[in-house]
Amino acid sequence: MINEQVVEVNEPADRTALQYLRANGLTGTKEGCASGDCGACTVMVGELKDGKVQFKAVNSCIVPVGQLSGMHVVTVEGLADQSRLHPVQTEMVACHGSQCGFCTPGFVMSLAAMLENGDPAKIETVQQGISGNLCRCTGYRSIVQAGMNALGRDYESRLQDPVFFKDTKPPSLGSVQQPLNESALREAMLQYPQASLIAGGTDLMLEVTQRYQSFERLIDVSRVTELRSITETQDTYTIGASVTYTELEQFFANRSEQLVSLLHRLGSRQIRNCGTIGGNLANGSPIADMPPVLICWDATLELCSSAGQRREVDVNEFYTGYRQTVLRNDEYIAGIRIPKTSFSAFTRFYKSSKRIEDDISSVMGACLFEGDGVKITAARIAFGGMAATPLRLRGIEDMLVGKLVNHELLEDVSAALGKAMAPLTDVRASAEYRAAMARSMLERALNEFSGVSKPLVMALELHA
Ligand SMILES: Cc1cc2nc3c(=O)[nH]c(=O)nc-3n(C[C@H](O)[C@H](O)[C@H](O)COP(=O)(O)OP(=O)(O)OC[C@H]3O[C@@H](n4cnc5c(N)ncnc54)[C@H](O)[C@@H]3O)c2cc1C
Ligand code: FES
Ligand code: FES
Repeated sequence: MINEQVVEVNEPADRTALQYLRANGLTGTKEGCASGDCGACTVMVGELKDGKVQFKAVNSCIVPVGQLSGMHVVTVEGLADQSRLHPVQTEMVACHGSQCGFCTPGFVMSLAAMLENGDPAKIETVQQGISGNLCRCTGYRSIVQAGMNALGRDYESRLQDPVFFKDTKPPSLGSVQQPLNESALREAMLQYPQASLIAGGTDLMLEVTQRYQSFERLIDVSRVTELRSITETQDTYTIGASVTYTELEQFFANRSEQLVSLLHRLGSRQIRNCGTIGGNLANGSPIADMPPVLICWDATLELCSSAGQRREVDVNEFYTGYRQTVLRNDEYIAGIRIPKTSFSAFTRFYKSSKRIEDDISSVMGACLFEGDGVKITAARIAFGGMAATPLRLRGIEDMLVGKLVNHELLEDVSAALGKAMAPLTDVRASAEYRAAMARSMLERALNEFSGVSKPLVMALELHA
């Protein structure tokens, strides 16, 4: 359904929602980058969950239109009702939130998704909600103000009515296959062994829009119930591979402050609404943010073949080379199991990138220490962006265990770290910068563990 009208869509698997919308007259949705970076193409996508409609902002330039079946896509043309503007539009006008107007539909849709979901009128909420939207002429102050005013209003939405979903069809079995459970997923994989899996599409669809590859058939793992859940036993959490970053933020809100802070730096709200933990592992990227975290947390990956054979792989054994993993063509990642003991240890996750929001890491450091702050009894240290694969530093860990954290130890570790890594120079950072950043991350984690220095956020709060 698009803007309250049920539509039949029969498009190639890799046709993006943006291409479809613009070709069908909905040109209010703009194309800036076609790679998820600028937010000009943002639309709202509504899903019926537990009888309630929930909206999320997505980058339509990297979502295959076939992935949206059974959902309600609202574009900027469908936001106002016949007699009045949507509150976000009214406030954008009142606050002078637009100049050339190219970015405006995208900002409006990001803000509208927040209002539709009843998000609070908090400055951090608004900033995060528009973290994936770029404006080059208005300046963000007036847009943030418009968002704050809109979220502060009393608002009754007509778009929340579940009746919109009464005529929608179940997920598609066309060129984008949408299995709803693992056995249907395996069947689809057996039937179409050449088809690529897609979850959030935030990596895969860049192959289409940036490298002009085409995919005749896609198997969508984002609706597979078992892959979408987080389950808990007495000792472990198992995160389904198709759990999105936004869902991780919610689940870990009171379980890992470190992870939640890192997730606020991962992509933008639009990327986090779609991107999944399984996609982050399966793409094999050495600069992905989650692998160092999962190495520190001692995670085990659960893989399953199309024939139903399951195996478990220690996350340390998952990567075999640059963009290579042990995952076979006929396998998918089902879930990621994490021992709960990892959450009681001291952890620090540090991300260095050129921009705070919506930027890939130059260096991603993750450290876990056990001990009393004086002596370390166990350590796990991993870095992204420092080698062809996410890098675990077992030699450095061995140097730390059983030692008193003091100035000499910091000096020894810093010297050894230089020898343990051979970072690359690329567009994001020089090898020297990366090495210096990794040293400073490890030193900072050790200083915070031993209480010599406070975490940066806390230090800034104390200063204020
Ligand atoms: C603007 C932008 C900003 C980004 N910022 C960051 C960032 O800050 N940090 C970061 O780490 N990444 C970032 N990314 C990369 C991307 O968002 C993440 O890697 C994300 O986790 C990919 O997940 P996905 O569900 O979108 O994967 P998809 O694109 O759907 O899939 C990626 C690959 O994984 C495979 N796959 C997906 N699920 C499975 C499964 N269950 N089993 C087997 N194979 C599977 C697919 O076949 C494909 O090869 C960014 C991307 C964009 C476009
Ligand atoms: S066009 Fe830039 S994010 Fe989609
Ligand atoms: S108003 Fe021109 S880019 Fe935002």
